[in-house]
Amino acid sequence: MGLFNWFTQEVAIDLGTANTLIIHNDKVVVDEPSIVAFDRTTNKVIAIGRSAMQMEGKTHDNIKTVRPLRDGVIADFTAAEHLIRGMVKLVNNGKSWFFPSLRMVVCIPSGITEVEKRAVRDSAEIAGAKEVYLIHEPMAAAVGIGIDVEEPMGNMIIDIGGGTTEIAVIALSGIVCDQSIRVAGDNFDSDIVQYIRRQHNIMIGDRTAEKIKIEVGAALPELHEPPADFAVQGRDLMTGIPKQITVSYTEIAHCLDKSISKIEEAILKALEITPPELSADIYQTGIYLTGGGALLRGLDRRIQAKTKLPVHVAEDPLRAVVRGTGIALKNIGRFKFLMQS
Ligand SMILES: Nc1ncnc2c1ncn2[C@@H]1O[C@H](COP(=O)(O)OP(=O)(O)OP(=O)(O)O)[C@@H](O)[C@H]1O
Ligand SMILES: [Mg+2]
Repeated sequence: MGLFNWFTQEVAIDLGTANTLIIHNDKVVVDEPSIVAFDRTTNKVIAIGRSAMQMEGKTHDNIKTVRPLRDGVIADFTAAEHLIRGMVKLVNNGKSWFFPSLRMVVCIPSGITEVEKRAVRDSAEIAGAKEVYLIHEPMAAAVGIGIDVEEPMGNMIIDIGGGTTEIAVIALSGIVCDQSIRVAGDNFDSDIVQYIRRQHNIMIGDRTAEKIKIEVGAALPELHEPPADFAVQGRDLMTGIPKQITVSYTEIAHCLDKSISKIEEAILKALEITPPELSADIYQTGIYLTGGGALLRGLDRRIQAKTKLPVHVAEDPLRAVVRGTGIALKNIGRFKFLMQS
């Protein structure tokens, strides 16, 4: 390590709609929800990440919680900058960086526009980065899974996050074709909110819906290892009084069916536009699932049944993208061609 490197601190960031993760010195040092809480009167940040999430849906007039990203891209620039700055501070135990040089690799969705890309770069720079590199999420996910992306071999990666589902075919260090749809985990949550209101006459918040999805969510109405029914509390729409009901995975599988079908359609479309030589590869290698959505019970089996291809869920799917971003950062010389500076 040269003297110059000693002064350079390096972080790899997966700035997601739902979660922000940071790798520093080969370790995941930050893994927090992408949420910032502001004091409305002073506009000061009062919390970020998990502590801000606990305030969500429970705020009074003086506090607002903001999710800076929507559908995988920055929707609130100022909040995004506060989020990055706050998260980077967490790396350094709450203190600001005293190092003169901060190098950041940030991953971006593959369907991002130039303006959206600019917003990521600017946020990172305002938050203190001197050198910013961008890497496409499916590429980072592939590297994170351990796929040799430089090979002349096609691989299909599907990243189901909070805001977007990205489907990409990767070969020879590039994305050959991709489909990005704005249907992912957040849509599952709103499907559940609507279903519980319609079916059970109970109003629940997004946090509760997400909990239901994680506890009893399913992509198939019949599972080999079914989860137990789950008790849900919310507000009765008729009486206005808090009430408890129980929900089963079968009902949740039915209410998620439409959104999952949209994801399936996008996968079929991506397979359709894949060049034939790469189709032949994918027939052998199958499909890799990453992102939090990959954890939905039975989703791998459902996609397998639809495509008749082998489907693999990445190990620790919530961290595949940041792991790959971290590997790209560490081997910045070797992987420079994957990144945009
Ligand atoms: N066990 C689980 N079952 C189903 N969904 C889950 C589970 N755990 C997490 N999720 C969902 O995964 C999503 C978050 O995944 P992830 O962190 O990959 O998204 P993100 O990277 O922040 O979003 P994006 O990539 O779209 O910007 C959330 O919608 C969350 O509810
Ligand atoms: Mg993501």
